[in-house]
This record gives sequence, structure tokens and C-alpha cells, in this order.
Amino acid sequence: MDMDKLVSLCKRRGFLFQSSEIYGGLNGFWDYGPLGVELKRNVKEAWWREMVTGHDDLDVLPGAPEPFEMTGLDTTIILHPQVWKCSGHYDLFHDYMVDCRESKKRYRHDQVRGRWLEAKGQTIFVTTQVGGDEGLAETQQRALKFFNLRAKDIEQLQWQGPLISLTTVKDFAPVLGPEAKTLGTLTEPREFNLMFKTYVGALSGEEGAAFLRPETAQGIFVNFKNVVDSTRVRVPFGIAQMGKSFRNEITPRNFTFRSREFEQMEIEFFCHPNSSPQWYKYWRDRRYQWYLNLGLEGERLRLRDHDPDELSHYSVGTADIEYAFPFLPPGEFGELEGIAHRGDFDLRSHMEGKLVRQGNELVVELDAEGKPKYRGSGKDLTYRDDLTNERFTPHVIEPSAGADRATLAFLCQAYTEDEAPDENGKMQQRVVMKFHPKIAPIKAAVFPLVKKDGMPEAAKDIYLALKKRFSVFYDEKGAVGRRYRRQDEAGTPYCVTVDGQTLTDQTVTVRDRDSLRQWRIKAADCVTEIARLIEGGDIG
Ligand code: GAP
Repeated sequence: MDMDKLVSLCKRRGFLFQSSEIYGGLNGFWDYGPLGVELKRNVKEAWWREMVTGHDDLDVLPGAPEPFEMTGLDTTIILHPQVWKCSGHYDLFHDYMVDCRESKKRYRHDQVRGRWLEAKGQTIFVTTQVGGDEGLAETQQRALKFFNLRAKDIEQLQWQGPLISLTTVKDFAPVLGPEAKTLGTLTEPREFNLMFKTYVGALSGEEGAAFLRPETAQGIFVNFKNVVDSTRVRVPFGIAQMGKSFRNEITPRNFTFRSREFEQMEIEFFCHPNSSPQWYKYWRDRRYQWYLNLGLEGERLRLRDHDPDELSHYSVGTADIEYAFPFLPPGEFGELEGIAHRGDFDLRSHMEGKLVRQGNELVVELDAEGKPKYRGSGKDLTYRDDLTNERFTPHVIEPSAGADRATLAFLCQAYTEDEAPDENGKMQQRVVMKFHPKIAPIKAAVFPLVKKDGMPEAAKDIYLALKKRFSVFYDEKGAVGRRYRRQDEAGTPYCVTVDGQTLTDQTVTVRDRDSLRQWRIKAADCVTEIARLIEGGDIG
């Protein structure tokens, strides 16, 4: 699928716009348009319903060690600055960047790749920001230009190996930066903290400094005791939260995939240390299945366990759910969600202070004077099981998803080009967004075949009845074939058409977006029929 086509459909049909576009846009920030807002709300609603409100806490779910409860929170975007010091974000939440002195551009060190090359007696490293065949072609073009060679002189370029990361290069003197014309213009890599800094109240100095949250998770950890004390939840249980997070990404890119403002959907699941490996496996498999159930194709979706050397210092196991986004080179996948076994790292950090690993132990990090570098809250965040009387610090399993990345994956998956007959029965190319009915922005569209003979009145009655339960659209303008086509592009799974027959036998036509099948039902049954189709996901 050509990503440019999807990006242009998203703008044309009102799924996504660049933020502040009339002022030239702001890199890394995106607005959801009238269709996009419904799509993203449906994704978030599907997550919240399945994970929280619709969760069956009475039975043992398949794969789960025992029944468990789920509850929710909505915490603030700005938290006490000490939260980020104890969590490790203040010291460790950074990427390395390199600046180009010539182009004045900034790059993430690990995202620049390149190839070693020998030509005209000189060895240089030619860089690019893209991988795969595109990256090879770009480095070739740039090398020809650098050495002032023509395409026919290509054999003068002696490539020394494949595309490799700039992180493998120690000396930048022979490096041709991604947009530079001369060598050695990249600076040494520097740390860049990704948290957005702000100031609270009238204090503009460091006293008032605070951060916009880079993840929703910490709001859950610091409320663990409040939730236990104010509800009757017992371990094992999960707390879910969705909301905005902010990261000052060095190179936001790939549409909404890497944004600076985005929404997360996170669960912190608290369990007994002994059963935590089983819970980790349970959540890994359950979250993977959630994406499949909403229509992501098995071949483009994968569950990847991290290698031990990829794990965070506190993690016993982590897996990513990844999707083969069309903007990535063939064979590459992008992260949709991470499921991490975090042990007792988070609750202990907020009790004792920032932790570091010493051998196999997590210990409080000390400053030069031997005092805790960042003090924890000192509050008791352990849990006492009132049945066994055992007191312990729960272990945490964290399924952490991005609402915008999931929405983008559903958009990519839905985009389809096929053929459908026009009003004269002639096959025409069509663009159709094949969303799962549960997340489709508009569930049904209602049309009178023509704007006379009482058809609009009958159609409006059906429209208003449907509107009480679903997001629906009424359209009486233009040829009916064209109206179908507009709904196909919006991803509307069902169209209901009132025609001449409706006025005699009170039946209407329902048209299925994907199979183009049409069938008649009683006008009075429209609400129950559309509900049945959407709930059952019965499409195709
Ligand atoms: N609490 C753990 C945590 O935040 P993460 O892997 O950094 O883990 C979780 O983020 C999810 O949030 C990612 O899998 C992704 O879906 C989403 N996410 C992270 N950074 C993002 C960005 N810059 N733009 C859009 N989504 C992002």
C-alpha cells in the first residue's frame, strides 16, 4: 500500500490534519478530523470496555491463573517533579542526538544509517535516514554526487558492506551527514531528555519546574495506595488509564507513528511475585488477540519477545506487539504495544527512592555523600493479603499501548483498492476503508433513493431512530452510486436505502460495504439489524 495515498485520503476525508496547518504546521503534532475523532474514540472505547467496564471478574478467563478485577483512573498530566526523579525518567529518559553543522538539522543518533564506501582513493561513510532498498538507492545517488561521478561511472564506487547504524561509527570525520555536501559535519552524540519542561505557578525558576508526563503509568503507581484503600480490590487486580503523554521526540516522523503529543492506553496489573510469570504470559497473549479481534491481519501483526540484552534494567521479560506499517521497509515492523514484567521496581522506587541494579539486586541509588540520590515518598506501598495475612510488594505486569499508533495501524489495515459497479453497472475502481464495524467512525448511512415521493421522510425517520444508538449519516445529495462511494471511503460498513418499494411494503435495502451484497429488511427492524451486524462483526 502506498502510504502517500492513505495520507492524502486522511486529509481529504477528514481523518487527520497537521496541527496548526494554516500557520505551516507544527512538526510532530496531529489533529483528528470529524471522521478521525470517531475512529480514535472507538479504538479507545473498545479498549476501555474490554479491559475495564466489560471485564468478567467472576470467572477464570482462558489463560489466566485466577479471576481478577480491573478498575480505572484519570490522573493529571503534570505530577510532582519527584515522581520523575524516582521513576528514573529525570536521569534516564533520553535519546542521543547528533547535529549537522552544515544543514543545521538534528538527528537521532540511532536512526541514522549508512554504508562505507571507497572511491577515488578515499574511504567515506555515506548516510541516509531510510532503510532497505530505498536507503541503498539514496546512498548510491549521494555517493555519485559527492565524488562528482555520473551514473555510468557507478563501478568506481566500491561499497564495503551493507547499511549499518551510525552508532557503529567511532570517528565522524569521514561521515557524509544525511543532508550534508561535505564530510565531518556531524557533532558528537549528545544526550537529550525527552520530557517537556514547564513551570507551575508564578515561580519561573527551577523551584517551579515540572514536566508534562511522558507516560500515563506513573499516575497509576503513585495512586496504588489510594485505589487499594478506597475500593475493595484485592491483588491480583489491574488499574487502567488512558490519556495524553508528551515526548519531545528528536525526529518525529511516519505520520502519527512518532508524535510529540500522543495518547496512551496503559494497564498496571498488580500480582503476587510467585504468579507474575504466568500473568505476564496471560497479558502478552490477551493483548495480541485484542488487535487480531479488531481486524489487524495475522501476517502483518507479530508478538516479539525481547532478547535479554534489550530488557530494561528492572524487567524480567518484555514482549512487543508489532505491525508491519507500510512506511517501513519490507520485513520491518513498528511497535504498537509493549508488555513488560516490571517486578517490584515501580512501587519500591516510589517508596524508597530511585533504584539502580547492583548485581541481581535493585538498590537505592546514592549520591556522593552516600544519601539517596532521589528520595522516595516514604509511604508504605506494600500490600497485605487479608486471607493469608502475607505482606508483600506486588509485582507489576504492564501492557502499554498507544491509541494513536493503534488507530494508525487500523487505518493502514483498512485501506483497500478494489472495483465496484457504478449506477450503470459498469465496474469502477474504488477506495474502501475496510474497518471492523466496531471501530468504523460511521456505523450506517441512510439514503432516500430519490428526493421525492415521501422517500426523504421515510429515510429521515430511520436515520433518527438509528442515531439514538449509533453514529449515522444521512445523505440525499447526488446519484446513489456516488453516495455509496463516499461512504466506502469513510469506511461505513452498512448503507440503508429507502426506495419505491419501501413505500408499499415498508422494507429497505441494506448494503454491505465489503461484499457489496444487498438484502431487504423491514424498515422497523433497522435498529436491531444494524446492532446485530455491528455487535457480531458480521461483515463480508
Ligand atoms: N509505560 C511504558 C511506556 O510508556 P513505551 O514503549 O515508551 O512504554 C508505550 O510506550 C506505547 O506508547 C508504545 O508502544 C507506543 O504505542 C506509544 N508511544 C510511545 N511513544 C510514542 C510517540 N512518540 N508517538 C506515538 N505513540 C507513542
